[in-house]
Amino acid sequence: MYQFRFNLKFLFPAVVLSMVFVYAITPVTAKDATPAVKNYAVFNENGKLQRPTGYREWIYIGSPLTPNDMNDGKAAFPEFHNVYIDPISWTHWKVSGKFPDDTIIVKELVNVGSKEAVSGNGYFQGEFIGLEAMVKNKQLFPEAPGHWGFFRFTIEGSRQLHKRASAQDHENCASCHQSHAATDLVFTQYYPVLRAGKAAGDTGTGGM
Ligand code: HEC
Repeated sequence: MYQFRFNLKFLFPAVVLSMVFVYAITPVTAKDATPAVKNYAVFNENGKLQRPTGYREWIYIGSPLTPNDMNDGKAAFPEFHNVYIDPISWTHWKVSGKFPDDTIIVKELVNVGSKEAVSGNGYFQGEFIGLEAMVKNKQLFPEAPGHWGFFRFTIEGSRQLHKRASAQDHENCASCHQSHAATDLVFTQYYPVLRAGKAAGDTGTGGM
């Protein structure tokens, strides 16, 4: 009898402890990792897109650069473009190889700073100078190619950004993307992360 009571007293904490241990070592699945936030693209009642601010926590997909001095001194877009996609759409892309409704891709503009480092000559990022985005939304952009809306928060010559932005006219942005981008108006040809992640499955890394 004494033996039995003794066991129980120690058994309970042991069970609780082992449960905590099993929980702690259970691997986090993609589903668990999916953030609670549903809409990364937030529109106000006038259909203006609120400036995305949380993209540093999204998936970074690349930094294209077309510098002035490789384009007769006047590139159309001479700054670095740091590009991010929201995490839900990234997970979707990995599973289906498609950009779902509500996809938002943000392009942060950073000018060319130093052109030399101890490692050699090159192009190094300077200062933040702008922000643009594209959002896929069938309801808001029923007629647009791919249902993408394009937005510009940059205030030329200023280090400030607009708090919200209206969708751009087709000729300003979408027409070029529609004619030249590899996948659904997105220039996937310049993002190894997107190419590696495309339909790679839930466990795809977006890399080697
Ligand atoms: C002359 C063609 C052209 C025009 C016009 C253009 N873009 Fe792009 N855009 C590109 C190219 C090429 C890339 C990828 C390489 C780069 O960033 O330089 C790109 C990249 C982007 C990206 C990152 C996703 C992607 O598809 O690579 C966003 C977001 C974007 N542009 C938004 C805009 C917005 C907003 C406008 C209009 C204000 C615009 N673009 C006008 C050619 C264009």
